[in-house]
Amino acid sequence: MRHPEEPNAGRRRALKAFGGLAVAPLPALFAARAPAQSATGATYALRAAPATVPLLGNAGPATAVWAYNGGIPGPVLRVRQGDTLRVRVANDLPEATTVHWHGLRLPNAMDGVPMVTQDPIAAGGTFDYAFACPDAGTFWYHPHQRSHVQVALGLSGVLLVEEPQAPDVDRDVTWVLDDWRLNRDGQLVADFDSMFDAAHAGRIGNTVTINGALPDRFDVAPGERIRLRLVNVANARIFALRFEGHAPYVIAHDGMPCEPYLPRQARVLLGPGMRVDLVLDAKAAPGATFRVIDDFFPSDAYEVVTLAYGTQAAAGTGARPGGERVKLPPNPVPPPDTDRAIRHALTLAGGMMGGGMGGGMMGGMSGMGAVWTLNGRSATEAMSGHDPLFTLERGRTHVIAIDNRTAWWHPIHLHGHSFRIVARNGRMLTRRDLCDTTLIPPRESAEIAFVADNPGDWMIHCHVLEHQATGMMATYRVA
Ligand code: C2O
Ligand code: CU
Repeated sequence: MRHPEEPNAGRRRALKAFGGLAVAPLPALFAARAPAQSATGATYALRAAPATVPLLGNAGPATAVWAYNGGIPGPVLRVRQGDTLRVRVANDLPEATTVHWHGLRLPNAMDGVPMVTQDPIAAGGTFDYAFACPDAGTFWYHPHQRSHVQVALGLSGVLLVEEPQAPDVDRDVTWVLDDWRLNRDGQLVADFDSMFDAAHAGRIGNTVTINGALPDRFDVAPGERIRLRLVNVANARIFALRFEGHAPYVIAHDGMPCEPYLPRQARVLLGPGMRVDLVLDAKAAPGATFRVIDDFFPSDAYEVVTLAYGTQAAAGTGARPGGERVKLPPNPVPPPDTDRAIRHALTLAGGMMGGGMGGGMMGGMSGMGAVWTLNGRSATEAMSGHDPLFTLERGRTHVIAIDNRTAWWHPIHLHGHSFRIVARNGRMLTRRDLCDTTLIPPRESAEIAFVADNPGDWMIHCHVLEHQATGMMATYRVA
């Protein structure tokens, strides 16, 4: 039941898909782009507008996209933990937009959700966002207006909130993983409202990029220690990255530090919207090469990028403690009191092969119809006059038991709060990692817990953006 255009394409497959285009090496691929403005005081200007970018390299056709400040991904915004981030957003798109600050625990009015926290920023308009950033870590930003179209067209960027004291690594590197559905001319296929995609795994593309370019090789120096921040900004693709020949430690999920651990089978699972920070020790010999593989769809496993060791060892990398000793300081998230929690149930239903679909699939509704439900309700884009799914008593711990009765994976995301995953499939977990988005596999369940300390109406939705657009979205109220 996979989309006909679904086959994965890393660089090699993309080459085939584009008729053997020669892809020029991109030495600047992993170099940091100039920031939109300098970090301290952190006032940034973001301009959302149509642009043309060399996704396929300088030898390929340029791709028409929508971008922040003309580049894919948008500029990296940096702010120190506790500081106020100020961003003036100018909308030069042909339609309204907003910017949502994914994972930030910020005041409701700054959350960037149209009709819920603000009026959409009209074409030609501007909006000033300003909020303190309480948590250090890897976050990102994207529109929350027609997200399945605007994000697919390229609108997203990374927000790094810096720890007061950076961990001891040689390099801090960010990989923005994205997935595009391109035609033979290197242009986006405009079937954003495909009901096939919506009712299945979402819009899976045929071209994977890292930092807005077809990845070829990632150079490492023998002996160096890298903090690798992975950010999945794809509409729908789930990545399962395996770093051959390496054993990276996970040190944070969704910006939130965790007790460092080695993921099972050295496979790093990353659903849409999710981030993982790794400590990657380059311990192999000079000149060695290793593949980074995405085998989320095992029958379509492909190489994402090659780790290529240089001949020159990194300086000063002698006696260092193991990667498990690289710990980030905790963020000030209140611990849940699960013994006295108020419980809520959230049932995910719908989609193909999920025991019935919403009637909207058949009807002549405007925009996309309803395919998915949360507790039997389908909300689509127009959320005004929304009724919250839950009202959570402020200051209390709440547990939401999520039951996925569908045949599909869903990365469930909450705005306004980070939560701990406390149980899966009825079994309590010993690791209770903090995150803002969690993948619920088909026909599985999970329980999440958090202290509802941030008042307002907040979104809860699937981050497969085609699922969100066709009903898997609601609000919850903290009052
Ligand atoms: Cu990253 Cu409501 O989204
Ligand atoms: Cu979903």
